[in-house]
Amino acid sequence: MAVHHGAPRRDTDARHGTLSVNPFHVAAGPAGMRATPPVDRMPDEAMAPETTYGLVRDELMLDGNARLNLATFVTTWMEPQADALMAECSAKNMIDKDEYPRTAELERRCVAMLADLWHAPDPRQAVGCSTTGSSEACMLAGMALKRRWSRRATGRDKTSAGDRPNLVMGVNVQVCWEKFCNFWEVEPRLVPMEGERFHLDPQAAAELCDQNTIGVVGILGSTFDGSYEPIAGLCAALDALHERTGLDIPVHVDGASGAMVAPFLDPDLVWDFRLERVASINTSGHKYGLVYPGVGWVLWRDAESLPAELVFRVNYLGGDMPTYALNFSRPGAQVAAQYYTFLRLGRAGFRAVQQAARDVAHTLAEGIARLDDFRVLTRGDDLPVLAFTTAPGVSAYTVFDVSRRLREDGWLVPAYTFPPHRQDLAVLRIVCRNGFTADLAGLLLDSLDRLTPELRRQPGPLEQDERKATGFHH
Ligand SMILES: Cc1ncc(COP(=O)(O)O)c(C=O)c1O
Repeated sequence: MAVHHGAPRRDTDARHGTLSVNPFHVAAGPAGMRATPPVDRMPDEAMAPETTYGLVRDELMLDGNARLNLATFVTTWMEPQADALMAECSAKNMIDKDEYPRTAELERRCVAMLADLWHAPDPRQAVGCSTTGSSEACMLAGMALKRRWSRRATGRDKTSAGDRPNLVMGVNVQVCWEKFCNFWEVEPRLVPMEGERFHLDPQAAAELCDQNTIGVVGILGSTFDGSYEPIAGLCAALDALHERTGLDIPVHVDGASGAMVAPFLDPDLVWDFRLERVASINTSGHKYGLVYPGVGWVLWRDAESLPAELVFRVNYLGGDMPTYALNFSRPGAQVAAQYYTFLRLGRAGFRAVQQAARDVAHTLAEGIARLDDFRVLTRGDDLPVLAFTTAPGVSAYTVFDVSRRLREDGWLVPAYTFPPHRQDLAVLRIVCRNGFTADLAGLLLDSLDRLTPELRRQPGPLEQDERKATGFHH
């Protein structure tokens, strides 16, 4: 989570220093109700629940409208039954396996369902766990790769104390992999973008590998443009490397979004445990897994791929249960909601929901292409995500201007610059997900259609500062 400092971020917060209580919310009750509670110090007295609820709720009104947030991959709507289930389970602690054995069982069933969905050679031999999201899942998968490498390294004839592990991946990886490399002191080896290739090239990835490579990460659904990386091609390049040099490098698939899209929409795409080289896969249950934030999954193809010494045991019905996690306590609500979603939608339901999102992406891409001012880079053929930039002749405004103007209509559409080798390219990205309907997409097109003639009349770009652009990393 964000690292906060005690001081207020803005002068205005400091100036007020207290919260103002709406007299309507002041219920008869504990003394001091009319006093304005301080902002940065715990109030001395208690407050009535209605008053407190009103205060917190009013402040949160200024947050954006989650449904209009086209920047995020994360679920912003669930049905009332799922809401109810989550509220009922929020007091259950996932780590208390002994006290909440049924929640533990639901987690196990989810792992089994994912192992089957991702074609584990023997789903009963696959191992996996829930996490707080893909970031934790990637940390766990990365640690397993690192431990396997260090075992291999100690078994080698010539290990030198200076051997430093490295991880090979495309420059387009999500920030969680930078974190992994930083936290666990692994050298990131990044395959750059080239021309109109906006993700990893299998051959270039294989060329970066050496005896200290702990693994290669392939992304099913690049955060930058929604394109799938060629996982089968990557495995083939690493097979050839193995044959040539004896280096046997495992692959981790970061399927934060795509691992819950491809199985339903692209069943013939071979990207998962069908490829022997794929050792582990992660996904975010809270993205295309259709659950509110706070759940991810990571699976290994078999027990051998997850070094046993990384697994800790907790009490479970008089016996013990193996666990692998960065944190200890966690709410059970998200896991219950994930199981609900799997059960509720089934494969057919997931296919329908994801297909609807892809259809919206296609329609929107066609509409944007018709506006002439834009060049569409991806149109939702992989993840239901489209990335587009301004057409070559457009010089009066930038994608950052478009992002700013769309905000005036309530739409959050991030604009950002691509990483090294394509830093000349700045794009807008729209994530289509459940709840962003064809009707809403039509309204977004109307907004774009209305504001582009105005933008064209600008004397020049007003917004060049990419630092002001909306964050897009999730
Ligand atoms: C490819 C990829 N990996 C990892 C993550 C991190 O996921 P989470 O937000 O679930 O931690 C994201 C988030 O967008 C992503 O797109």
